[in-house]
Amino acid sequence: MVKAVVLGASGGIGQPLSLLLKACPLVDELALYDVVNTPGVAADLSHISSVAKISGYLPKDDGLKHALTGADIVVIPAGIPRKPGMTRDDLFKINAGIVRDLAKGIAEFSPKAFTLVISNPVNSTVPIAAEVLKAAGVFDPKRLFGVTTLDVVRAETFTQEFSGQKDPSEATIPVIGGHSGETIVPLFSKVSPNFQIPADRYDALVNRVQFGGDEVVKAKDGAGSATLSMAYAGFRFAKAVIKAAKGEKGIVEPTFVYLPGVPGGDEIAKATGVDFFSTPVELGPNGAEKAINILGGVTDQEQKLLEACIKGLKGNIEKGVEFVKNPP
Ligand code: NAD
Ligand code: LMR
Repeated sequence: MVKAVVLGASGGIGQPLSLLLKACPLVDELALYDVVNTPGVAADLSHISSVAKISGYLPKDDGLKHALTGADIVVIPAGIPRKPGMTRDDLFKINAGIVRDLAKGIAEFSPKAFTLVISNPVNSTVPIAAEVLKAAGVFDPKRLFGVTTLDVVRAETFTQEFSGQKDPSEATIPVIGGHSGETIVPLFSKVSPNFQIPADRYDALVNRVQFGGDEVVKAKDGAGSATLSMAYAGFRFAKAVIKAAKGEKGIVEPTFVYLPGVPGGDEIAKATGVDFFSTPVELGPNGAEKAINILGGVTDQEQKLLEACIKGLKGNIEKGVEFVKNPP
């Protein structure tokens, strides 16, 4: 039996993500939590003739406790999105506190659940969640994931003309590092099945993967950021975690993890100098079974991208850790 929980379920991502989870036969129970509108969203989804039993909770009447109790997987898209002109780091002020408080709830009511953080800035909110879980004495790094799948999905889409795949998701394109601008590093030299990006298109494609989020923010013109593609990506990652937990072998997805706590991660932490990093991770019954090091043999161009990534990532991670250790 799998109980999935969405925290921030009434939002732009939360609603379509909840729809996808409700329709997924791998989910037996689905609990929706938000500060607004969950009774309506849950009532609406409850009419869908799928496996999952659904319930909706608000903060009143211990809603967070009831939503989280018995959870196997918790997905967090709670928090404000960007408007044009903002960076993801500009969201820190509000979203840091939201993620901290929800992580406290997870520490108390569902410490063994797989926790998938979507809320931005991911480079800081995942360290925040880790610090909260650590402080509560329940941190299992194999069970905490920053969701960077949208970067992978974008890379698959934007390179389709070169990968030649009818279904662009058939290409495996590692995107590593973090989830904002220059911290996002597509490794086009490591794609499989192998294909080449023409030299005169390389910079533009890297830039499009790194700043794909801005395209959507600009097009939505003040109405938010990516929601539907994120719900798709978040569901894809959640489904991978659930399938691996059920025993399916060979599932590998890039995700932002605490390296020292995941087998194989120490080597990557040593090479990068950061503790949190998105890298392909082999998933299994206990979550992140192995962090796979694909840094060897990268091209000079990719090495430069990695240097810029690590520089930015360090500050983002420290900011998140500091927020919990020395609250403002
Ligand atoms: P949204 O404003 O449409 O929805 C956010 C929801 O969170 C709202 O329903 C709001 O009521 C709820 N919320 C606020 N405080 C809460 C709390 N304390 N507890 C529970 N729910 C709470 O925003 P959105 O477009 O769905 O985006 C949500 C977040 O996801 C943003 O931070 C955005 O930047 C981020 N995001 C991340 C990625 C990624 O790749 N990781 C992609 C897209 C968006
Ligand atoms: C994205 O990559 O689309 C998200 O992180 C949302 C954003 O702010 O761009």
